[in-house]
Amino acid sequence: MSERAVFATRIGAIAATVGSAVGLGNIWRFPYEAGQHGGGAFLLIYLACVLVMGIPVIVAEFVIGRASRKNVCGALRALSPWRGLHFFGYLCVLASLMIMSFYSVVCGWILEYIMQAVRGGMTGHTSQQNAEMFAQFVQNPWRSVMWTILFLLLNYLILRRGLKRGIERLSNVLMPLLAVLLLAFCLNSLFMPQVWQGLSFLFTPDFSQISPRMVVGAMGQAFFSLSVGLSCLLTYASYFKENDSLLRNATMVAVFDTLVAILAGVMIFPAVFSYGVAPEAGPKLIFEVLPSIFQQMPVGGLWAVMFFALLFVAAITSTISVSEASIAFFCEEWGMSRNRASLLNTVVSMIFGSLCALSFGVMSGFTIAGKTLFELFDYVASNVFLPVGGMFFCIFVGWLLDRKLVKDQLTNHGTLSPRMLKPLIFCVRYVAPAAILAVFLYGIL
Ligand code: PFF
Repeated sequence: MSERAVFATRIGAIAATVGSAVGLGNIWRFPYEAGQHGGGAFLLIYLACVLVMGIPVIVAEFVIGRASRKNVCGALRALSPWRGLHFFGYLCVLASLMIMSFYSVVCGWILEYIMQAVRGGMTGHTSQQNAEMFAQFVQNPWRSVMWTILFLLLNYLILRRGLKRGIERLSNVLMPLLAVLLLAFCLNSLFMPQVWQGLSFLFTPDFSQISPRMVVGAMGQAFFSLSVGLSCLLTYASYFKENDSLLRNATMVAVFDTLVAILAGVMIFPAVFSYGVAPEAGPKLIFEVLPSIFQQMPVGGLWAVMFFALLFVAAITSTISVSEASIAFFCEEWGMSRNRASLLNTVVSMIFGSLCALSFGVMSGFTIAGKTLFELFDYVASNVFLPVGGMFFCIFVGWLLDRKLVKDQLTNHGTLSPRMLKPLIFCVRYVAPAAILAVFLYGIL
């Protein structure tokens, strides 16, 4: 992009940013992480992380992005009082490629499930058969690699069309529709036999479940779900208009993202207990549970197609934003055309994505530190890179950036009320970096 784009409308900017945050992180990752870490206690710590770390990091990224109107490296170079800090941007690009790689595998699973739903391939299945179907599918090297590659091709087609036309139009229409559908499924779950067991698993904290692993996991989940720490929101904010309110946009992202995660929990857990699936089943959790949910609904096949299709849209608005961070970098730092940058992003993701897809089958024996490539990319990107990135952005804005510049960005040069400014800057300077550090230390010690 030689002349920098801005989002055409305020709603478009919010929808695209919320679209980045709301994705598989909320509907696929949150339920399985909560399931593995004891439900209610995980939710509580997760919410604390969103509040204490997530929101300050969103604000920090927004300030850097809009003040510089550049990609992460360019922004750090332009705003930093010290030389060399822009190298941190390379880490963000690396993290974004890692996330793209494992995320597109799950997007591929969704494509397979859309196809199965259209063909009626899940009708009449017992929960046991649903579990077998998933296992057979992910172990098949050709199918899972093919869907991963197909997904990345679709992602590429949208990326190539540029910012406004591609991303904005898609998010404006389909995100609200997903919310409506999710609400309908939650209502449906409230009529399941084990509804109370499911809801109390999700909402009653059992404090004995709190462990270093769980707290690090909740922090990683908060960062992953909010899309923070990777410069993705920074890049989007570089396309915001001068009169957009950064604080309002940040609140919108946090509120919508959290609501969708909780709704996903309300939809999944009553079903988990009603169909006798283990809550700690891991990444396959929703793929085993959802088909059973659809089955007991009238015209279940139709619901299944709609749900997986919308989940696909939620996922692709997130992958577009992850890709956008590295594409802005390739274009502005390495002088590539948008088309070439999108292609580079796609090819690298295809290579590593295929390896991640094979982690469930032929490459399941290939592990590093006890984790398959898929698990490793997910774990390292979410639990290490994103929180480190978040801490960096907070310290950068809180301690290195000119105070007046920060204030101008947050109040739109004095036109917005500075009421929340002081507590917010306090959180960016002290609370968020200290909390992230504390969680890391708790995790290691
Ligand atoms: N927040 C997205 C989700 O919940 O699915 C995933 C994601 C997007 C993570 C962008 C990180 C990121 F930078």
